[in-house]
This record gives sequence, C-alpha cells and structure tokens, in this order.
Amino acid sequence: MSYLEKKSIEDVDVAGKKVLVRVDFNVPIKSGKITDDTRIVSVLPTINYLLDHGAAVILMSHWAKHKGKKTLIYTLAPIAERLSELLGRPVAFTYDCTNEKAHQAAAELKSGEVLLLENLRFYDEEEENDPEFAKELASLADIYVNDAFGTAHRAHASTEGITHFLPAVSGLLMNKEIKGMGPAVGEPNRPYVAIIGGAKVSDKIFVIKHLITKVDKLLIGGGMANTFLAAAGYDMQKSLVEEDRLDWARDFLSTDIAKEKLMLPIDLVAAISFSEDALHQVCSVDSVPAGWMALDIGPQTINSFVSVIQAAATIFWNGPLGVFEMEPFAGGTFAIARAVAASPAYSIIGGGDSVAAVHKAGVAEQISHISTGGGASLGFLGGKILPGIAALDDK
Ligand code: 3PG
Repeated sequence: MSYLEKKSIEDVDVAGKKVLVRVDFNVPIKSGKITDDTRIVSVLPTINYLLDHGAAVILMSHWAKHKGKKTLIYTLAPIAERLSELLGRPVAFTYDCTNEKAHQAAAELKSGEVLLLENLRFYDEEEENDPEFAKELASLADIYVNDAFGTAHRAHASTEGITHFLPAVSGLLMNKEIKGMGPAVGEPNRPYVAIIGGAKVSDKIFVIKHLITKVDKLLIGGGMANTFLAAAGYDMQKSLVEEDRLDWARDFLSTDIAKEKLMLPIDLVAAISFSEDALHQVCSVDSVPAGWMALDIGPQTINSFVSVIQAAATIFWNGPLGVFEMEPFAGGTFAIARAVAASPAYSIIGGGDSVAAVHKAGVAEQISHISTGGGASLGFLGGKILPGIAALDDK
C-alpha cells in the first residue's frame, strides 16, 4: 500500500467533535497586510466541510522562520481577520497556542464556531517535535486534521508528533494536492520535463539527484545554474556561486545521467550590479563581462528550454529562472511561464515565486495543478516521504 493512502475527514464522524486542523497560513504579510491569501483560500473547503458537519474547528499554523519568542511582529492576528472575511463568520483568536487561555477558548468553542491559535513557532518545541508539546496541543481536541500540505515535509509537533495522540486524518486540500501531483508520480506520461530554478543549489541537491532519475529532461536555470556553470569551468565573475557545492556539482555533471538529461543555460542576461536599473546585456556563458553577474537566462536558452517544454507530456516547475522581481531580468521566468501554460502537457507548479510568476504572466488558469507547497512539492516529486502525510492514520 502506498504511504499516501490515508484516512480523510470524509472517513470520520466529526459531528459534535472538536477538530484541530493544522493549516499552512505561512502567507506573505507586509506592514500588517496579507499580500497573497491563496493559502488561506485553499483551506476554506475543509473548514466549511467541518462546520457543515457539526464540528467546532480549531486552526493552528506557523508563520515565518521564527524562533521561539513571542513577539507581535509574528502574530497570526491579521490572518484571523482575513479568514473571518472569507468565511463570512467570526473567527476567535487566542494570543497563544497552549496556555490556559487557549485551553479555555478551545473548551468553550461550540459546533459551528472557529478558533485560530497563535503562531506555533512561538515555541521551540514545535520544530523540535517535542512529544510533550504535541500532547499539549492534542489535548485541545478530539480529532486532528492535517491540511497543511505546504508544511508536510516538516516533522514538527503539529504535523507529526500530534498524530501519536489523536485520530489523525487528512483534509480536503491535502487530498487535492496528493491527487494533483499524482500524474507526475509513478508512471508519468512522457516526456516528463522538470524545470528547477531558484537561487541556491544547496537547498535542492537531494531533489535534483532524485528527479533526474525520474524525468526525461531536467532544465536548470536561475541562480543555482551559476554553480553548475562554474563547476563546468566557466568564469561566472561576480555571479552568485556556491563555492562549497562546486565539487558536488562537478561530480554530478560528470555522471552519464546528467550528460544525457541535464540542460543548463547556454546564454545569460548579465548586469554590472544587482539592481533594476543596472547596465545589462546578453552574453554567452563563456563571456560574462569582467566583474558582472548573471541575473537571468538568455534568449537562446529560452528557445531551447521552450522547445523541450513544447514536446513534454508532463511538466513540473519549481523556482524562477532569473531575478524576475526586476523587470530587465524577468524575461526568462515569464517566457517559461507562458510556455508551460501553452503546453498541452499535464503541468504542476510549486513554490511561491514560480506560482507568483504564472499569476503575473496571467496564465495561471492554464496550469493543471498549482501547489500551495514549495519545499513540500519539491520533496514530494523529488521522492521524499513527507512526514506530515506518512504520520496520518492509514485508510
Ligand atoms: C513554506 O512556506 O514552504 C512552508 O510554510 C514551510 O515553511 P518553513 O520552510 O519555514 O518550514
């Protein structure tokens, strides 16, 4: 049996129960304002399902890479407000997730009501997967639901530890994500093409090594391509290069599988400095001007990547191909976004930046599955067993 065959909220009776739902409300917030509420909107079906079936719903989430200190900068309070607008009903909020007030609020919560707990990362015990902390969270409810696909690659107290203390089932978003990723798992339609970008290769080594065994072509762009190009012997000048990964990249490039399947940029957009108005020009990978830095893939690379994408039957894309927040270096990422959207292939996009790019390019509607997970989607398709899913009760 696959580790993905788990009990779901539809398999348990939630009427009259307190249901503790782990969600991923790790959304971008600038000056107290939520700038993208996709992750909140995505769990509304689960919340509404539970409310419609007579449950009292207690939500918990982390926010930001925050280390165990209570500070209002990291509060989830603005999220409670937005959620209440989206649900069209009040959402109670407690400024803690385990203290007496949280217990009282949970105890008093009635069927049809919603409560959001404070940022789980106010406690180091969350990321440490501390069993006592997990038990404490579990004591707030009768049933645990994991609907935080975006955090399913983390074995934390609220995603893994807690499953040892309560019946533990998946939510509707979790189910949707597993189903949406399905066509790229097992026996995907071929050619299967993965496009991996982003700044650093160090975050994605495991995934690259695994993905290349699954795909027919692996296209690499973005900052991480610089490390491969430097390992291949090109002088990348002031480009971002991870010196401590050069040996690994050199070894990888020398493998037969990389020679067969890996495609790196052949030209680049290089700039004199890291700024929107910097002097910039297209150059081939062997002629980055002295003291300049690569900030996007160039037109020849776009053409060769696009022709691979056009021939694909399954596509997975994670990570931008350049510094797309700056207009002069956005061309590669947007061209790839449009090509993926135009392709008849089954397409999956994960990762905040690539998802933002397809939205900005106005082509999100044409993508088969847009995941709410960045690291989680990479891990999932990169062959990792996600602990947040594995820990749920088997079907
Ligand atoms: C994400 O945004 O990828 C998830 O919310 C996980 O966040 P983390 O990388 O801080 O654990």
